[in-house]
Amino acid sequence: MAKFVTEVKGVNNESIKLASDIIKGGGLVAFKTETVYGLGANAYDEAALAEIYQVKGRPSDNPLIVHLSRAAEVDRVARDISDTARLILNALMPGPITVVLNRKDDLPARVSGGRDSIAVRVPLDMGARIFISACGVPIAAPSANTSTRPSPTSAKHVVSDLNGKIPLILDGGECEVGLESTVVDVRGDEVILLRRGGVAVSEIESVIGRAVITDCVSKEVVSPGTKYRHYAPSVPLVVVGRGDRSAVERIVATNSAKAIPTVIMGTDNDLKDCQGLAADYYSLGADSAAAARRLFGAMRILEVKYGFIVAIRLSDEGLGASVNSRLDKAAAIM
Ligand code: TXA
Ligand code: MG
Repeated sequence: MAKFVTEVKGVNNESIKLASDIIKGGGLVAFKTETVYGLGANAYDEAALAEIYQVKGRPSDNPLIVHLSRAAEVDRVARDISDTARLILNALMPGPITVVLNRKDDLPARVSGGRDSIAVRVPLDMGARIFISACGVPIAAPSANTSTRPSPTSAKHVVSDLNGKIPLILDGGECEVGLESTVVDVRGDEVILLRRGGVAVSEIESVIGRAVITDCVSKEVVSPGTKYRHYAPSVPLVVVGRGDRSAVERIVATNSAKAIPTVIMGTDNDLKDCQGLAADYYSLGADSAAAARRLFGAMRILEVKYGFIVAIRLSDEGLGASVNSRLDKAAAIM
């Protein structure tokens, strides 16, 4: 049975007041950020944190990101912040990046799944920052999807996953980046990439003046038995290399023999190489930024209409590598 009548409200003074009252009372509010919608709670409130895990169906050892309205507040939740971490904080926050630091003891361990670290992010989205600031506490927020579903990039995606489970969604429109933040561990001497996302690795490298360690994240991508399923549409998705028309042809032929409705998804240019096959086509736009913006929404649209998605890998430039990592994860669970 539904626990709430979920309200969807535009971002204005009145809805921000309502949202901050809900947070202060121990409740959850979904809100737009520039990356994806988040499901927010008071980071100091153990019961509200437990509710996040319950509502999402998320394993309790998968840690949450704490959101702040200003980078200057990082010292409120983290300690022993290195010079390299400061460089990243100053240059890239607010923005679609999350840094893993040492957690201050007054924050509940539950927020980071029992770890002594804490992931911190300052969203670029003005509405998000006004909301967080109105709450007066750091806001713990995972993406506002049901665990294993693609992350929500519009309020209607949140409704589709969480209707009746939370009291309020602050509808700020469509997310501009469309992929979750890049996560880096900045506790040690090296900057270690934990998740690709809205900030390209090359951007971080130009800020710190040296290479980011990417071994951990690429290992995760090659091993399909990752601990948590992610980003997955409800129908099979296969990733093919750019320009590999013959691979696409083979898959389409096999599927049409079995009468499985198939769609080929890729950027405009890559789709041109695959024209004339017995399948439908879905464009992710002209470049990697457009593809990042559209990817999760596309998965939610296409899984309803088709029985099979063939995704053409993007070039690794710009946000291409981040988009590809999501495609690999969506494919890995088959
Ligand atoms: O863009 C985003 O990051 C969005 C918006 C809402 O801010 N949030 C988001 O949260 O994607 P979530 O919970 O879906 O993903 C958080 C990621 C997970 O991969 C989690 O394992 C990692 O960050 N993470 C969080 N805290 C961590 C920690 N202390 N150490 C290592 N990884 C951590
Ligand atoms: Mg998530």
